[in-house]
Amino acid sequence: MKRQLLFPATAMAILLAATAASAETAPVSAATEECLGCHATLHPGIVADWEQSRHARVSPAEGQAVQEAGRRVSATEIPDGLRHTTVGCAECHTARGDRHADTFEHNGYEIHVVVSPDDCAACHPVERGQYDGNLMAHAYANLADNPLYAMLERTISGAVTLQGGRMDFAPPDDLTRADACFHCHGTRLAVAGRQTRDTDFGELQFPVISGWPNNGVGRINLDGSLGSCTSCHTRHRFSIALARKPETCQQCHVGPDVPVYKVYAASKHGNIYTAMKADWDFEAVPWTAGTDFAAPTCAACHVSLVVDPEGQILNQRSHRMNDRLAWRQFGLIYAHAHPLSADTTQIRNQDGLALPTSFDGTPAETFLIDANEQAARRRAMTRTCRACHDPSWIDGHFQRYENTLVTTNAAVRSATQIMQRIWKDGLADPVNPFDESVERRWSDAWLFYANATRFSAAMAGGGDYGVFADGRYQFSQAIIDLDDWFRFRSAKK
Ligand code: HEC
Ligand code: HEC
Ligand code: HEC
Ligand code: HEC
Ligand code: HEC
Ligand code: HEC
Ligand code: HEC
Ligand code: HEC
Repeated sequence: MKRQLLFPATAMAILLAATAASAETAPVSAATEECLGCHATLHPGIVADWEQSRHARVSPAEGQAVQEAGRRVSATEIPDGLRHTTVGCAECHTARGDRHADTFEHNGYEIHVVVSPDDCAACHPVERGQYDGNLMAHAYANLADNPLYAMLERTISGAVTLQGGRMDFAPPDDLTRADACFHCHGTRLAVAGRQTRDTDFGELQFPVISGWPNNGVGRINLDGSLGSCTSCHTRHRFSIALARKPETCQQCHVGPDVPVYKVYAASKHGNIYTAMKADWDFEAVPWTAGTDFAAPTCAACHVSLVVDPEGQILNQRSHRMNDRLAWRQFGLIYAHAHPLSADTTQIRNQDGLALPTSFDGTPAETFLIDANEQAARRRAMTRTCRACHDPSWIDGHFQRYENTLVTTNAAVRSATQIMQRIWKDGLADPVNPFDESVERRWSDAWLFYANATRFSAAMAGGGDYGVFADGRYQFSQAIIDLDDWFRFRSAKK
């Protein structure tokens, strides 16, 4: 039996409760009330999540009235039609309808499914603008449009076939790509057609979206914008508390190529977070070092606006996380000064390849930040540390970290010299540098072990990730294996 278009009892109760609970709560728009009328029973999970969000309580006008450091709405101009009601289903899902390829007629409204960063920008333009300068926003193209990285992707996720007895990697199909690398990097969404579905409210037509669902950081949206704010602020709670907790970043930064979450969990900061977080306040804006939290989470070091107990701003918030990053330690294949642009496909090294360094370690300098900019970014990062540490502690930490970049780069150089001899002597084929077992051993050295060692040094991970847990032990072992392989094969030849 089909449901009626009348408010079902539960939806009515939810709406009444929402109104009763807060006489001071801003009103819900008429359009959103209609959405809630059906969706409260269709998707009780979505509606409950939204009801607990600030979007369901605070109007943009009230948000704008909050003073500087406590303010959550960065827009100075918000269209009048949006200012005085809560931010409900209709406010987000009908925004900029003409820009979204998935816009469709839905019970009298032109709605789209995939609400994008550009829709959020009506009220949060600063966050949206900064995020565009973050490597994360460009994570799709940085991988898919770089020929060498695309080859790496194909050699990991592609279908292995035998061509005349020889192994070959066919490009992975779209479903595999969405399930593998682009789960984190973000998919490219496209409208693949329309379908009519039999629903509780009769037959309705919906767009069919390929690449969906996905909340990867560099998702290419149906209005052409980049990224998914829900990577860190899941819908429909859109919570700041969630984004401030390291478990959110764990989804993608967990390793073994990028074991940051594991490093953090094993660090003193992570110990304190795990043991004491129940006493902390993850909702407070601004966030006060010492009283709201006693040790930094990922967010505190990389993103957050942090104040002291007097309310003095110690560090400004930024969604462009490289504002605080002097180096790119993630080695492709060496650690190097951070790229100037978050679109790394533009980089050309001295050999003309789209890599930030050449195989001998020479940085592609014109595409990377200079020493002055590195110093400014280091100051930006350490402004947060100084809430809790003395400069001698902080300087000692960064001295060790930068030394680790030098020593791991030197070891990657040695591994690469052995690999180059292997290629030169015709013992392996360099056309695809990732598809032979000895080449994989070389990749292990820079992709897993050099990186783990550096992450451990950068984020105070203590012993294991720098030594025995994919650290220096395995790193040196991989180089020994390469050398052994080379000696054995060249002796046989
Ligand atoms: C008459 C009832 C009704 C009203 C009013 C209504 N919806 Fe829906 N909506 C549905 C049904 C039914 C579905 C499909 C659910 C299913 O198949 O389980 C749906 C699906 C959706 C989807 C998901 C589409 C997809 O393919 O992923 C979104 C987004 C959505 N509605 C948003 C809204 C918004 C925003 C409003 C208000 C402007 C609204 N709806 C008003 C009944 C309604
Ligand atoms: C990679 C994770 C991440 C992504 C992606 C992300 N954010 Fe955030 N966001 C955070 C963190 C962490 C905070 C908490 C900052 C703080 O503590 O000051 C935050 C805070 C916010 C706040 C609250 C600001 C305030 O003044 O209180 C808003 C609004 C926001 N983000 C909007 C967005 C929008 C819009 C997008 C998409 C363009 C987005 N975020 C994408 C991590 C993220
Ligand atoms: C602040 C903006 C915002 C508001 C308010 C909002 N949505 Fe959404 N909604 C989104 C975003 C963003 C996504 C897509 C998530 C992503 O990027 O991965 C989404 C996705 C959805 C989907 C598809 C997700 C799925 O799991 O199938 C449905 C259905 C939906 N919203 C319904 C609603 C309903 C009903 C309401 C009102 C209670 C609502 N939305 C309010 C931003 C919003
Ligand atoms: C029409 C305006 C509007 C739109 C569009 C909008 N927001 Fe908001 N947002 C607000 C308001 C108002 C608040 C609450 C301000 C306050 O409490 O002072 C808020 C608060 C937030 C917060 C802080 C929540 C917290 O727990 O402190 C985040 C994060 C956020 N929005 C993310 C988003 C994202 C992501 C989108 C797009 C999917 C979006 N918003 C779309 C107006 C908007
Ligand atoms: C679990 C999430 C996840 C998956 C799956 C994933 N990556 Fe990544 N990738 C990351 C993260 C996180 C970074 C950033 C590392 C950093 O900055 O420390 C990254 C960065 C990269 C970069 C650097 C791009 C640049 O120019 O900045 C390349 C190349 C890359 N990944 C390749 C791949 C390939 C190939 C696959 C699939 C075989 C893949 N990734 C799968 C999370 C992921
Ligand atoms: C859905 C996956 C995903 C989530 C969740 C995620 N990241 Fe990322 N992050 C990535 C990928 C992928 C890259 C690398 C993009 C590239 O190099 O092209 C990256 C890059 C970064 C960078 C380098 C940015 C730059 O411009 O140099 C930082 C810092 C970072 N992430 C921190 C965080 C923090 C902190 C969180 C949690 C609040 C987080 N990430 C959540 C996938 C994710
Ligand atoms: C104590 C502060 C601190 C905490 C906590 C912290 N980081 Fe970092 N992070 C750093 C520093 C310092 C660097 C190196 C900065 C530089 O190279 O200039 C860094 C570098 C990074 C990078 C850049 C890697 C690259 O290759 O460019 C990513 C990604 C990252 N952190 C993610 C995270 C995530 C995710 C968490 C939580 C699980 C986290 N960080 C926790 C301080 C911190
Ligand atoms: C909110 C306070 C706070 C902030 C901010 C903070 N730390 Fe810490 N940190 C601590 C506390 C507390 C400890 C534990 C000290 C102890 O061992 O008793 C600690 C421990 C450390 C350690 C561990 C030393 C060891 O031998 O295990 C290092 C290194 C460190 N911090 C570096 C940093 C750096 C670098 C930053 C900034 C990027 C930073 N911290 C930001 C509170 C903070």
